[in-house]
Amino acid sequence: METNLVLDQSGYKISTFEFLWKFFRSPLDALTDLAREQGDIARVKLRRRDLFLLNHPAFIEEVLVRQADNFIKGPSLQRARVILGAGLLTSEGDEHLAQRRALQPAFHHHKMEEYLPLMNENTHTHISRWKSRAQVDMSDEMMRLTLNIALWSFFGSAPKGTVERVSESMKTLIKLFPLAQMPLPASARALFPGFSKARASLGVVTEALLQNPQSEHARRALANILKENNNGQFTDEQIHAHALTFLLAGHETTALLLTWCWDTLAHHPEVQAKLYAEAEAVLGSRFPTPDDIQKLSYTRMIVKETLRIRPPVWAMGREAMRDCEIGGQRIPAGSTVLMSQWVTHHDSRFFDAPLQFRPERWSGLEEHSLRRYSYFPFGGGSRVCIGERFAMTEAVTALAMIARRWNISPARSEPARPKPSVTLRPDKSVKLFVTRRAV
Ligand code: HEM
Repeated sequence: METNLVLDQSGYKISTFEFLWKFFRSPLDALTDLAREQGDIARVKLRRRDLFLLNHPAFIEEVLVRQADNFIKGPSLQRARVILGAGLLTSEGDEHLAQRRALQPAFHHHKMEEYLPLMNENTHTHISRWKSRAQVDMSDEMMRLTLNIALWSFFGSAPKGTVERVSESMKTLIKLFPLAQMPLPASARALFPGFSKARASLGVVTEALLQNPQSEHARRALANILKENNNGQFTDEQIHAHALTFLLAGHETTALLLTWCWDTLAHHPEVQAKLYAEAEAVLGSRFPTPDDIQKLSYTRMIVKETLRIRPPVWAMGREAMRDCEIGGQRIPAGSTVLMSQWVTHHDSRFFDAPLQFRPERWSGLEEHSLRRYSYFPFGGGSRVCIGERFAMTEAVTALAMIARRWNISPARSEPARPKPSVTLRPDKSVKLFVTRRAV
């Protein structure tokens, strides 16, 4: 195994204070520097525990696959239960396995055929409202689009006012999420009334969607299937947690992916021209069919390249339950291991010219020569994103449909810069000009 293990086992190369100071100022730079300075496994002392940053695909595979039984998501994700409840994203062990088995069929390959028309219709309705030569806030547009798609796909309807209510609550929760992740007593959280209010509002929306399926289609949607075909498998509280997880996890990341795609394409007109040519050739004026999704290969390459260069999930953490060894390094029980998509996707050992946006790198051979786990935008192993296929289908269809009708150009001279919070967001709202293409 060709690795670059330069960890000094006798001590720490960076003080806790220096790391934390760097991390709070700029998490992406802090992790990148740590990898550059310390090699494939970097170590930092954090209070009583050590933090290990794994910077080699083989070590990432150890944690996500080979030694996955020894790693849990740990306390930080448990604290996310404050928002998401005990759903798929926040459960561990046997509870997770049972939930995963029960929910997997909703994301099966053939289910995409049911979701695709909803994706198409929502995208069509959404972009039909745009005015030619107008400036749009693409972050906001993509957030609303993917939220509508999630509501229709998972709940079967998007009642009036729901999108606004969920969007508002999401904004507050994302702003305050770092506080929810801190080990504070519940009473301290009461000091942030906005948080509790936003969480309660999401609860009310989810409950209303579950209680009042508004059509036959809604009765057949995922959330109601959970409720009706339950056979006592899930408690009401769990159904509520799953529904909320699908609502939140099912739209924010994909919205960011599409926002990054458009911001990048606006600054790469030559790539956008190829995207348009493919959309025109494959779709003409039709909505995409499942076959078309396979044929939109350049569109898919753009999506993959955007997930590489701007991964919406930029780092994932795990906690070691028992002492173990990775790459010859002892990892004591209780340590935190961190794997960063941002760091690995930008490593020149695995990607040529890693800072360049080059969708062509995903064509044929080059992709097959990729090292496993050098690219992991959806995670991996038994906890790989359950919505990967859904998100890829949605991104490919939305990108092609938008490109087919609209030319997108920048309103600012530079693309937005990444600002990591729970997910990798743009540092400011992405404003772009949309101009209708002659049909
Ligand atoms: C571009 C879009 C998306 C990205 C980049 C993304 C990324 C990820 C990643 C990296 C994980 C693994 C986290 C970990 O192991 O710590 C994950 C898990 C998860 N994602 Fe996604 N996701 C996306 C879209 C979606 C969609 C559309 C859904 C739909 C419901 C979804 C639902 C979930 C759930 C429920 C989990 C937890 C799975 C488990 O633990 O078994 N995600 N996602």
